[in-house]
Amino acid sequence: MTSTNDPQGGAPTTPRGTLRRPADLARTIDVSGLVDTEGGLLDRVIFTDQELYRQELRRVFAPSWLFLAHTDQFHKPGDFFTTYMGEDPVIVTLDRDRRIRAYLNSCRHRGARVCRADVGTTRNFTCTYHGWSYNLDGSLVSVPNQDGYPDSFRTEDWGLVEVPHVQTYRGLVFGTWNPDPVPLREQLGDMAWYLDAMLDHDEHGTVVVGGVHKWVLEGNWKLAAEQFATDWYHVNMSHASALMVLSPSGKTPKAEVVHRTGRQYSDANGNGAGFPVHPKNRFDAQTVHKWTDYEALRERLGDARVEGPLANGHATVFPNFSYLPVNGSIRVWHPKGPDRMEVWSWTIVNTSMPEEVREAQRLYNLRTFGPSGIFEQDDGENWSEVQAISHGFVTNNVALNYQMGMDSEREDGRHPGTTSELYSDAAGRAFYGRWRELMNTPAWHEEHEK
Ligand code: FES
Ligand SMILES: [Fe+2]
Repeated sequence: MTSTNDPQGGAPTTPRGTLRRPADLARTIDVSGLVDTEGGLLDRVIFTDQELYRQELRRVFAPSWLFLAHTDQFHKPGDFFTTYMGEDPVIVTLDRDRRIRAYLNSCRHRGARVCRADVGTTRNFTCTYHGWSYNLDGSLVSVPNQDGYPDSFRTEDWGLVEVPHVQTYRGLVFGTWNPDPVPLREQLGDMAWYLDAMLDHDEHGTVVVGGVHKWVLEGNWKLAAEQFATDWYHVNMSHASALMVLSPSGKTPKAEVVHRTGRQYSDANGNGAGFPVHPKNRFDAQTVHKWTDYEALRERLGDARVEGPLANGHATVFPNFSYLPVNGSIRVWHPKGPDRMEVWSWTIVNTSMPEEVREAQRLYNLRTFGPSGIFEQDDGENWSEVQAISHGFVTNNVALNYQMGMDSEREDGRHPGTTSELYSDAAGRAFYGRWRELMNTPAWHEEHEK
């Protein structure tokens, strides 16, 4: 990687000329006093403050593994998908060697996006501003009026900035700007066991059905990521009307739905997963349920997973990738400032599912957790409600409670890692513990700074 392709080193440098960025532009706030994982308290300023938000982009998003796409979105060289890492726009594409690569979607000339489409297939990325054109390997291949530049100008110095590490886990593509990251699989740790309950039903893996739904919510990204990691507690209250609609009588939800028991996984990397445990856990969409060979799943994944996280559950891979197995929903909470997020949501299904089963799963996901889904609406409303009042001076100074299930974390002998009760804030405490750790740790791009 040339120096020009390494903007993460701090001040932008080029073969000719240097810029020096004053350290004040990246002032750091010590967040130790804002998250008390031992006491189960949170200062709600972490949802509202602009400087903390900028620090999140630098210290939480830039060094972390971030979900980019599903491998099924790339079949032939030039297939691309544009997304974000934090607020950085990126192009994910398959190069001529069929390697998934990702580039900053910003022209090296004046910074316009070099790819404005959401998805497609191309031979190169040509900037629509002045026409600089880049290959699938990111190299700059064409510059209109190139003879106007000094002799020191060399196209090889001005290729697209590449995301240095892109790795996949069972069809999920992640990238990180960190030049020396812990490998993705290692970072996932025990969380992989829970992810496999959704991704590894048979040897053929998963594929995407339909496109990517995108919508905007007026709320901080952490409200959503945290809820998917830790919060089964809200289900009976927030989703009461949806549960009534889904109950056979159409009246109150069945007692066994309301009074579920289960476990909640959490780890020091900030990952979390909650799931009811029941011998008859099953897929909700009738067609999917009927098609599913639960015995084969028990054989492959074991009873603990089939009776636990395989069907009804929720989870977050830190920081902002979440999923719901029973719905086939995977999603990213893209931060858009402290007060806003963009939700990007995919439906994935087993590759082995026949067409009508795939369609049933897709429709079930849309009905429940699509942009107008009966559950999704409730959650978005809650996050916007919390955010809308958080800027009030007094409001902002009142601590939030994360004390449920305090000290109940343990090894339960059936599920890997540490688990707590289903109704617990354990994974929330772990999520914010990881957030605090990253926020207080200089990222690689700051190590040279004094
Ligand atoms: S900004 Fe892309 S060619 Fe000028
Ligand atoms: Fe919910």
